[in-house]
Amino acid sequence: MRTNLTARTTGNKKLVAWVERIAALCGPDSVHWCDGTEKEKAGLEKILVGKGALIPLNPKKHPGSFLCRSNPADVARMEHRTFICSEKESDAGPTNNWMAPAEMRVKLEVLFTGCMKGRVLYVVPYSMGPVGSHISKIGVEITDSPYVVLSLRITTRIGARVLKALGDEGAFVPCVHSVGAPLAAGEKDAVWPCRPEDVYIVHYPESREIWSFGSGYGGNALLGKKCLALRIASVMARDEGWLAEHMLIVGIEDPQGEKTYIAAAFPSACGKTNLAMLIPPNGFKGWKVFTVGDDIAWIKAGPDGRFYAVNAEAGFFGVAPGTSPLTNKNAIESCRAGAIFTNTALTDDGDVWWEGLSAQAPKHLLDWMGQDWTPDCGRLAAHPNARFTAPAAHCPCIDPDWENPKGVPISAFVFGGRLSKNAPLVYQSFNWDHGVYMAATAGSEKTAAADNAEPVRYDPMAMLPFCGYNMGDYFAHWLQMGRAVPRPPKIFRVNWFRKDAGGNFVWPGFGDNLRVLKWIVDRVRGRVGAAEGPLGFMPFYEDILWKGLAYSREEFAAVSDVDAGEALQEAEGQRLFLDTFAKIGKLPEEFVHEQRMLVLRLKRCGAKWRLPSGCKRRGTALARKGQ
Ligand code: GTP
Ligand code: SPV
Ligand code: MN
Repeated sequence: MRTNLTARTTGNKKLVAWVERIAALCGPDSVHWCDGTEKEKAGLEKILVGKGALIPLNPKKHPGSFLCRSNPADVARMEHRTFICSEKESDAGPTNNWMAPAEMRVKLEVLFTGCMKGRVLYVVPYSMGPVGSHISKIGVEITDSPYVVLSLRITTRIGARVLKALGDEGAFVPCVHSVGAPLAAGEKDAVWPCRPEDVYIVHYPESREIWSFGSGYGGNALLGKKCLALRIASVMARDEGWLAEHMLIVGIEDPQGEKTYIAAAFPSACGKTNLAMLIPPNGFKGWKVFTVGDDIAWIKAGPDGRFYAVNAEAGFFGVAPGTSPLTNKNAIESCRAGAIFTNTALTDDGDVWWEGLSAQAPKHLLDWMGQDWTPDCGRLAAHPNARFTAPAAHCPCIDPDWENPKGVPISAFVFGGRLSKNAPLVYQSFNWDHGVYMAATAGSEKTAAADNAEPVRYDPMAMLPFCGYNMGDYFAHWLQMGRAVPRPPKIFRVNWFRKDAGGNFVWPGFGDNLRVLKWIVDRVRGRVGAAEGPLGFMPFYEDILWKGLAYSREEFAAVSDVDAGEALQEAEGQRLFLDTFAKIGKLPEEFVHEQRMLVLRLKRCGAKWRLPSGCKRRGTALARKGQ
């Protein structure tokens, strides 16, 4: 078999032996070790453009950028095909798919045998976290998809420098990926080869291995992201005493230059990228927002007892629809050059388009499947999960410390979801344990549709599809993490998505979310008081900076007041959800008490808890509560 491996590539014998073993199993025509150079990138682009798999975009609009159309059956992560194959089923827990590792290995052996026939096997050494940082982990992805190589090149750090950091003895997470479409001699390749009916995304937490078959899309195929940086990393984090979380990291600088970092967890497509790159609203002159990461945070206690976070990634894989110069100018700027767009529409002048990019759609497009599209055709131009892949370094508001190997100090954890009723705009936990309960009972409606009857999917810490072990043990780990340091971050819940009876959002969201983040910063720094509500500490109207936004006391009451009856129903929903863990003896005792106290507070507060007005004079509210 042809290989470009030279004596200089790596002296890591384990790595070389593993690559040889996988190559023998998969039977590619040749093996290519990726060095991460520009030359290599140009070569891969040429191959994909030649096949029609990448469409070069108009260099005036998007220099060095491409559009890619996936197979319509391969457009998103497939949770029902994702497995945690721990030795014991109980270690995967009630929220993960599980299969005995021995059984899964037999299945995969069959699928992977000869699966790369007629293709090149690429070896991609990559680092999650800055190369060489004490918090970083090295993975090596074997893949037969050049699109995956180009994407990993953007979302992670790849190539020779990673092999150097790995050294001769270093440990790596082996990741095997195949689109599952071997080519017979002379057979013409598909534009997006895949095998949707046989997809498996498999994690072996004990041996820290990842195997993915059949899909070429996003988190199914870019194995550094959800598979390594969340599922496998969460297991490492449990064993080593840190946190691997589905969180954005954002730095907020006030006009005096004081900076505060916040890490925030929201389920997929609930606004992490927007919050990470927020543009300060009118009335916030002198305020600056800096992005450290938009999807995955690795968090460790520093020597000073504070939590420090790094972005595990080097690029964004962001939802395109809804992203516009009005909602997220920084994201638009991030993907101006050197970007890959997947499943967006193509304009007649070689630009990309998606729903929400501009108020008016172009008169003619090729849709995400390459078909003619006009505004009246009744179809979406871009797939709802169309994404842009862009280097974080291109983000205009990237934080100067985003690659600091020590990470940035986190002052607050924020948890949210998409909830159209009940859930208030913002509240703070009474203490760490209560905050962990709040995070564990966060949830989101299943669809973005304004359907109030839609049941809530509980999504603890936005990690439901990403926790690589028993979620009950994960709760215990979170509780312990807060105890291990003297001053853990404060914990908040937020909800930008509350709607009125007419189905309209009652909070403007986007840039105006900074008003809420400012209150969070003020709380963390002990500058403002709060009202003690049944759910947690809540902001007085007077303590939010309203400059530049007409938002009345009544409107604020509508996003703050708590209807006790509905909240009790919600508490019952939480109890039923947590019962899943109680049944297997994995519900932390703290949660039982938090649940009881929540119900008691709600029963004691009358039919409706109303936010009291604060005091005009600063400090009075502070004296009343909490500090
Ligand atoms: P993943 O990359 O899938 O993990 O998701 P994400 O959380 O980064 O999702 P993203 O930021 O791309 O979410 C986009 C969706 O959230 C779009 O539909 C936005 O319009 C919507 N969105 C973001 N911020 C707000 C907000 O403040 N208010 C409202 N109403 N919608 C928002
Ligand atoms: C998510 O689904 O949370 C994502 C996109 O961030 S993917 O990388 O495809 O998982
Ligand atoms: Mn995500």
